[in-house]
Amino acid sequence: MNKGVDSEKLKELYLEFFKQNNHKIIPNAPLIPEEDPTVLFTTAGMHPLVRYLLGQPHPLGKRLANVQKCLRTDDIDEVGDESHLTFFEMLGNWSLGEYFKEDAIRWSFEFLTAKKWLGLDKKRLYISVFAGDKDAPRDEESAKIWQSLGIPKERIFYLPKKDNWWGPAGTTGPCGPDTEMFYDTNKKPCGKDCKPGCSCGKYFEIWNDVFMQYNKTQEGKYELLKQKNVDTGMGVERTVAALQNKKSVYEIETFKPIVEKIKKISKIKSPDEKQEKSIRIITDHIRASTFVLAEEIVPSNVDRGYILRRLIRRSIRHGKLIGVEKEFLSDLVTIVIELYKKDYPNLEKRKKFILDELKKEELKFRNTLERGLKKFEEIAKQVKKIDGKNAFLLFQSFGFPIEMTKELGNEIGVEVDDKGFKKEFERHQQISRVGSEKKFKGGLSDASEQSTKLHTATHLLNEALRRVLKKKDLVQKGSNITPERLRFDFNFDRALTEKEISDVENLVNNQIEKCVSVTREEMPFGEAKKRGAQAVFEQKYGEKVSVYSVGDFSIEVCGGPHVKNTKEVGEFKIIKEESIASGIRRIKAIVK
Ligand code: ALA
Repeated sequence: MNKGVDSEKLKELYLEFFKQNNHKIIPNAPLIPEEDPTVLFTTAGMHPLVRYLLGQPHPLGKRLANVQKCLRTDDIDEVGDESHLTFFEMLGNWSLGEYFKEDAIRWSFEFLTAKKWLGLDKKRLYISVFAGDKDAPRDEESAKIWQSLGIPKERIFYLPKKDNWWGPAGTTGPCGPDTEMFYDTNKKPCGKDCKPGCSCGKYFEIWNDVFMQYNKTQEGKYELLKQKNVDTGMGVERTVAALQNKKSVYEIETFKPIVEKIKKISKIKSPDEKQEKSIRIITDHIRASTFVLAEEIVPSNVDRGYILRRLIRRSIRHGKLIGVEKEFLSDLVTIVIELYKKDYPNLEKRKKFILDELKKEELKFRNTLERGLKKFEEIAKQVKKIDGKNAFLLFQSFGFPIEMTKELGNEIGVEVDDKGFKKEFERHQQISRVGSEKKFKGGLSDASEQSTKLHTATHLLNEALRRVLKKKDLVQKGSNITPERLRFDFNFDRALTEKEISDVENLVNNQIEKCVSVTREEMPFGEAKKRGAQAVFEQKYGEKVSVYSVGDFSIEVCGGPHVKNTKEVGEFKIIKEESIASGIRRIKAIVK
């Protein structure tokens, strides 16, 4: 076996192997899917390829391969065992309507077992194939191919859809039966039913070949696709662990330095089972958090920001479980950046941002954690099941994500009313929405506090750009606000200089520091124009329009919502300036 193979070498060998088999290498896509708004993160290399799997020709041809960073939260409760991770790197090769089962399986087998490539022991390789159901037939064909390559029948298992079917990544789209490759770690079987797919950690699932020939429709039907595709995914971390004969992914070179650092900080030399689990959870979550932060996502209470918040806060809680009471996550993130910066230069580039945001979140949560835990104990002592109101109280007042409250409950055998929490959560959202609607007629759908700040910051940015760039006809060409950041597109035909960027930031921050009032008036559209108000949708606002002014600095026709005074906005910072089309620039900015 090729014992010396580490992650770098594995990636290199894999791409080389598929290049030799006429595949073109495609880029490692961002962790935030660019084309698919229905999923929060890229969970597999096939995300950016959906339209090509559906039949559109890919500019690079029909055979593709890459290394893809992925984030999956489905497995978050499994994290802490030998092999499940939220963040991982995946190697993938694709056939867009060209080669199918025969070649895909043969190449997987050759790459895994040939001396020239990974040289894994054939005898330790176990296989699963799809057992068949009403949607698709039993996959005898794949089983036969495996047998022809020398895998005996006894090591081939037929498993149902829940195990041997992949996709769609969202609710609809390409999917199909798969064949999975497992490597026997030589651990003792956990019982007589222990077999590939068992969660005890004896069999590491290392590679999955999906035969994507179906499209799942909105109605839940499986229709045949125009073409038969192959979509494969091989986990880098697990495969390296198998190659290095390790019993868990936490022992390989991209995890070990983090694990060691946690042991050092917590002064635990030989952790017991529980401590080991906490160390693993922190290690996994901090890797994931670093990569999410590198995509300019900041912790918040919605969507991606919420996942990030959960990961960070859970790490802090597990730190506490192993006796770490001081701030410690920055030290770990620095190690993650060092380990991965060669392949992911963004990590180094955004290091300051990553560390700043992480620190802020850690401090914020440390402030309430102790008191929150006390409150939790107090509540849990009195009940068998924590109701929605109390779970919401822990969330609202102490920043406990519901998943954390459930985990805490689980540890002492107390249930948590998940549904009740959701109801309570929605009720509160309703209350604040009603509040904001009263204040701002026709307000935005997302009237969260953070979005409101960013909305006002957008007005300030719009005006600051016009002034700094001395371009009176600079106008908004697009705007998009999420609780994490603002995005503002405008007409300008060159990149901004560093000085211009900092002048814009300073001008905006200056207005913030001056604590200027933000006021709203209603007036006829003509009057607003006469007063020099910016307006994006001239028709849409009808006769009487709502106009927001920030002191005498900015005036815009706008539905709101906005803060009452610029001092509420916080510090404004531009995090990206780029071209998106000829003559159009895009700025992304945050407020802290
Ligand atoms: N898309 C398949 C997976 O992630 C290959 O397992």
